[in-house]
Amino acid sequence: MEYDHKSVLLAEVVKQLHSKTGGTLVDCTLGGAGHARAILENIGTESLFIGIDRDDTALAAAKIVLENFSQQLLLVKGNFKDLDQLLNGKVDAVDGFLFDLGVSSIHFDIPARGFSYKNDGPLDMRMDKSQKVTAATIVNEYSRNELHQIIRDYGEERWASRIAQFIVEARERKSLESTLELVQVIKNAIPAKARRKGPHPAKRTFQAFRIAVNEELTALESALWQTIKWLNAKGRIVVREIRGTITAVKKGYIETFPEGTQKAVSIAFHILTTLFCGIATQYGKIECYSKDQTTFYQNGEFM
Ligand SMILES: C[S@@+](CC[C@H](N)C(=O)[O-])C[C@H]1O[C@@H](n2cnc3c(N)ncnc32)[C@H](O)[C@@H]1O
Repeated sequence: MEYDHKSVLLAEVVKQLHSKTGGTLVDCTLGGAGHARAILENIGTESLFIGIDRDDTALAAAKIVLENFSQQLLLVKGNFKDLDQLLNGKVDAVDGFLFDLGVSSIHFDIPARGFSYKNDGPLDMRMDKSQKVTAATIVNEYSRNELHQIIRDYGEERWASRIAQFIVEARERKSLESTLELVQVIKNAIPAKARRKGPHPAKRTFQAFRIAVNEELTALESALWQTIKWLNAKGRIVVREIRGTITAVKKGYIETFPEGTQKAVSIAFHILTTLFCGIATQYGKIECYSKDQTTFYQNGEFM
């Protein structure tokens, strides 16, 4: 199957990384390698580029996309939460890290991966298929309270409490095994009037379970701390957040995103203000700060 992922904020991410000839760059979320290819086209042949992904399908696709750069490329299978381990022995220091968070279209496009609320598939949602916990584990085994918290914090779903309750009632009759079974339970839980407007009624809950299954926030938090010791002076960490929850990254504080993400993003922000790096959101809002904490890039413009 062709891997067709549209890399978000491609030009901005390349620019933010300040990729220079001869440097070492680490893409911690290689995916379909859209960003990677654009970066590699800019950095010259003396640079080293390490691409990490925990998904075998993504790595296989990236290998094909990047075949012309094989001389300067190292592809690594692993979870970026183990960054130290993944980089040890391969490099001494790094000039730029990229985290392009979220899932690739390949996850949604293949129903058997269980990420899609539009097509039927097993309740899976694992990026790394060797991992034990699947969406089915969470949906069928977690307590009502845990489900509520996950759906509320990671999905920002206002009907989180009802959805958790409906899941618990449904699984008492029969365990939930497929994505469309879960979609039906979610639809039953959300009043018809509330379902008429806005995104697909299952979108937020599926996002929440995906984040929980893949422990996305703890992985990011852990990885960001590890990046510090690898980063060269003037190195950069660029984080692109795919969730619609970060509406603003402001100097001094971060507003309007849920508890779950706050910690992870605060840490990113901390690094951002102290180590000279960038955070990007899908809305094109990018703010960067220099070491003295003055904003030098905001909403598409250098200041
Ligand atoms: C949004 S996609 C990246 C797309 C890529 N930048 C491109 O341009 O094609 C995110 C990728 O990160 C991977 N990923 C997510 N969390 C990860 C983690 N903790 N460790 C390693 N890879 C991860 C996913 O498997 C997915 O392939």
